[in-house]
Amino acid sequence: MKILLTGKDGQIGWELQRTLAPLGELVAFGRSGLDLADVGTLSSTVRALHPDVIVNAAAYTAVDQAQGELELAMRLNAEAPGVLAQEAARSGALLVHISTDYVFDGRKNSPYLEDDAVNPINSYGLSKLAGETAVRAAGGRHLILRTSWIYAARGKNFLRTILRLARERDELRVVSDQIGAPTWSRLVAEAIAQLVVLTRPQHDGVPGTYHLTTGGETSWHGFAREALAQATKLAGFEARARTPTAAEQQREHRAVSAQRTEVVPIRLHRPVAVISVDEQSGVPSVLSLPYGAFPQSPHWAVGAWDDLRKQLRSRSS
Ligand SMILES: NC(=O)c1ccc[n+]([C@@H]2O[C@H](COP(=O)([O-])OP(=O)(O)OC[C@H]3O[C@@H](n4cnc5c(N)ncnc54)[C@H](OP(=O)(O)O)[C@@H]3O)[C@@H](O)[C@H]2O)c1
Repeated sequence: MKILLTGKDGQIGWELQRTLAPLGELVAFGRSGLDLADVGTLSSTVRALHPDVIVNAAAYTAVDQAQGELELAMRLNAEAPGVLAQEAARSGALLVHISTDYVFDGRKNSPYLEDDAVNPINSYGLSKLAGETAVRAAGGRHLILRTSWIYAARGKNFLRTILRLARERDELRVVSDQIGAPTWSRLVAEAIAQLVVLTRPQHDGVPGTYHLTTGGETSWHGFAREALAQATKLAGFEARARTPTAAEQQREHRAVSAQRTEVVPIRLHRPVAVISVDEQSGVPSVLSLPYGAFPQSPHWAVGAWDDLRKQLRSRSS
C-alpha cells in the first residue's frame, strides 16, 4: 500500500509519520516538498505517485489570522483538499481529510453529532467547511474526520502555551465557559492508521464524516489545571499558577461572556467512530463506540498523560 501524507511536520502529521509508516510505502511531504497553495503541482504529484491512500494533515490552521487571510485559508483548506479529492476519485484512492469543530457555531448545549447542522462563525471555520464540501463533491472514497482541541508535545497548542506561561507568570487566567474535548495528536494518528487498515479498496461503503476526539469534556480552565497538576509532578517544573477562587471564576465568566463574539465551545459526540470490516463477508460497518470502549480513546484527563509526561520530562532535562 502506498500512502501519500501531507503536512508531515504538523502536530498530527508528525504523529502520522510514525503510525502510517508500518502500513506500507509512506511518502510524506512537508510544506517545502509539496505546497498546498500550488494546486497544479498538487495534481501532478498525486498522479506521479499514484498512491492508494492520501492523508491530508496539512492545512491553514491560524484560526484568528484567517479573518484577514480568507483567500489564502480558502486556497489551502478548501481548494487544495478539493484537488486531492478529485485526484483520489480519479485513481480510486482513499482520501483521509482532517476537519474541525469550527464548522459548528458552538450554540448547541450538548455534544455535536456528525449530521448536526453546520454553521461556521469565522473565516477558518468557513474555509474548513468549504474543504469538507469539496471533498464530498469529488465523489471519491473519503473519510472526513473532525477533531478538536488538539494538543501535542510539539507545535503551537494550548498545552504548551499554558506550560510556558506558568513558568513566566505568577497568575494565569483561563476561561472556564468554553467546553471541549482535548485530543492528543497521537490518538488521531493512531485512529487514522487503524481506519486506513480497515478501509480496504474493495469496500466502497465507507465514505463519510466522523467525529474523532477523546472521551470526556472539560473547559480550557479545567484543561489548564490538569496540565499544571501533571507538569508539577515533573522534576524541574515549577508551576506557580494558582487556581482561581469560585468568585474570580464567576467574574471572569461574566466578563468573557459579555465581550466575546466568537466562541466555539464544542463537544464532538462519539469520540471515535471505527469502521470495521467483517472478515468473512467483507461487509464494512461503522461502529460508534461509547466513551472508553475503544482502547485508544481514553478520557481526556487520563489516557495520554503518562506518555506526555515522559515527553515533557525528556524535553525539560
Ligand atoms: N490544532 C487543533 O486544535 C485542531 C482542531 C481540529 C482540527 N484540526 C485540523 O487538524 C489538521 C492538522 O492540524 P494540526 O493541529 O496538526 O496543525 P499544524 O500543526 O498547524 O499543522 C499543519 C501543517 O500544515 C502545513 N502547511 C501549512 N501551509 C501549508 C502549505 N501551503 N502547503 C503545505 N503544507 C502546509 C504546516 O506546515 P509548516 O510546518 O511549514 O507550518 C503544518 O505542518 C488540520 O486540518 C486542522 O484543521 C486541528
